[in-house]
Amino acid sequence: MATKLLQPLPVPQRRQPAGVAVAAAAAPLLVLLAMAFFCHSPLVAVATGAPELVELTLLPDAWEKGAVCLDGSPPAYHLQRGFGSGSRSWLVYLQGGAWCNSTESCSERKTTALGSSKFMELVAFDGILSNQHQLNPDFYDWNKVVIRYCDGASFSGDAEGEDMDGTKLFYRGLRIWEVIIDELMGIGLDEAKQALLAGCSAGGLATLLHCDNFRARFPKQVSVKCLSDAGFFLDIKDVSGERFMRSVCDGVVHLQNVQKVLPKDCLAKAKDPTECFFAAEIIKSISTPTFILNSDYDSWQIGNVLAPNGSYPGELWSSCKADIRNCSSKQIDVLHGFRKKLVHELKVAEGKSDWGLFVDSCFTHCQTPLNISWHSPSSPRLGHKTIAEAVGDWYFGRSRGVKEMDCKYPCNPTCSSQLPT
Ligand SMILES: *[C@@H]1O[C@H](CO)[C@@H](O)[C@H](O)[C@H]1NC(C)=O
Ligand SMILES: *[C@@H]1O[C@H](CO)[C@@H](O)[C@H](O)[C@H]1NC(C)=O
Ligand SMILES: *[C@@H]1O[C@H](CO)[C@@H](O)[C@H](O)[C@H]1NC(C)=O
Ligand SMILES: *[C@@H]1O[C@H](CO)[C@@H](O)[C@H](O)[C@H]1NC(C)=O
Repeated sequence: MATKLLQPLPVPQRRQPAGVAVAAAAAPLLVLLAMAFFCHSPLVAVATGAPELVELTLLPDAWEKGAVCLDGSPPAYHLQRGFGSGSRSWLVYLQGGAWCNSTESCSERKTTALGSSKFMELVAFDGILSNQHQLNPDFYDWNKVVIRYCDGASFSGDAEGEDMDGTKLFYRGLRIWEVIIDELMGIGLDEAKQALLAGCSAGGLATLLHCDNFRARFPKQVSVKCLSDAGFFLDIKDVSGERFMRSVCDGVVHLQNVQKVLPKDCLAKAKDPTECFFAAEIIKSISTPTFILNSDYDSWQIGNVLAPNGSYPGELWSSCKADIRNCSSKQIDVLHGFRKKLVHELKVAEGKSDWGLFVDSCFTHCQTPLNISWHSPSSPRLGHKTIAEAVGDWYFGRSRGVKEMDCKYPCNPTCSSQLPT
């Protein structure tokens, strides 16, 4: 059975310790949702050929370098070899899936594919990972790697802990990153003439955190760029006025010891290292050309950062969180406030000439790994371009200044209600 675990998981519910179980329980649910997505369109899928299922490669020897998933099992990746003129081009894609910020939540995660390779299965390569020209016009023939996310800290922690029952918990995301990139270097990445580091959600944040490090591994003449999809998490107050997201990230940063990858100039001036775990700070120090792709009504952030469970009375936000068309005009105003903050924080990226932006007003999250958002008749468009076209134009320098910022919801008629939330 294939899984399409390239999507994020909900973070634990606040003010309700039992909520941590919800995060883990949601994993199989996402698999089912992903499967349902394909099962509902069998005819169309047959017409274009279903996305290829790519096998899992485990790295048992990585143990010697301390690079293991939360439960101590080997880290893993999926590789689809490039062909034709793409055989020396590489896309390295970091899987997402929220974070774990406490012994409890990390120990729950250990029993899922987001914490242990024992539970990992094949992955369907769709969207930017597709090997079909019509679905993925610029990258279809590239070598493509999905690095599995099993550390719970955006591939950035380096510590060890203990489970409630005394067994070890390994917070080794940074070592997983190092070991897998080294492994890829040994099987052709070192010969790349061009490369792109990408990822969505927690993987989109990881992309920002590791972008310059990735770039530094190649000679100057190699074209290396980064694409962060839905990784621009905001350090904002939730609807109750609390810094909920800050508290989640604070747990991740301290429990898993992610300081090593945080930008030095930010750490030097920040009161709290957790401030430096947010995209707005990270992008200030990135020197590699980077493309930021994010919805400015990011459905996951609306539901988990702006209006997390427990931040509002009763069901006040439930139906708006599930479907933006159900938001009251008051709620839409709050969502516009979220957009305003995002747009403001992206000024830094706008000011960098070799960077790219695609900030659409569609209610969705993670727009690279599914063909429907990436490049299809239902894709969001800005300046008449699909995301695939905008990213391709930026990557290959086909047009100058690919910086697409959408107008306010609901102004964009190409925002399809079929987009995943
Ligand atoms: C928030 O609550 C809803 C039910 O109201 C539930 O379906 C959802 O899973 C909860 N989200 C999280 C992150 O716990
Ligand atoms: C990609 O999306 C299009 C339209 O949304 C659909 O027709 C097609 O079947 C999808 N292809 C795959 C391989 O999923
Ligand atoms: C972990 O995150 C939850 C919300 O997801 C928060 O309530 C809790 O305080 C955090 N725990 C730690 C140790 O930071
Ligand atoms: C949105 O509102 C419609 C009409 O009031 C309702 O039928 C539907 O269930 C709501 N959707 C969600 C996700 O709450």
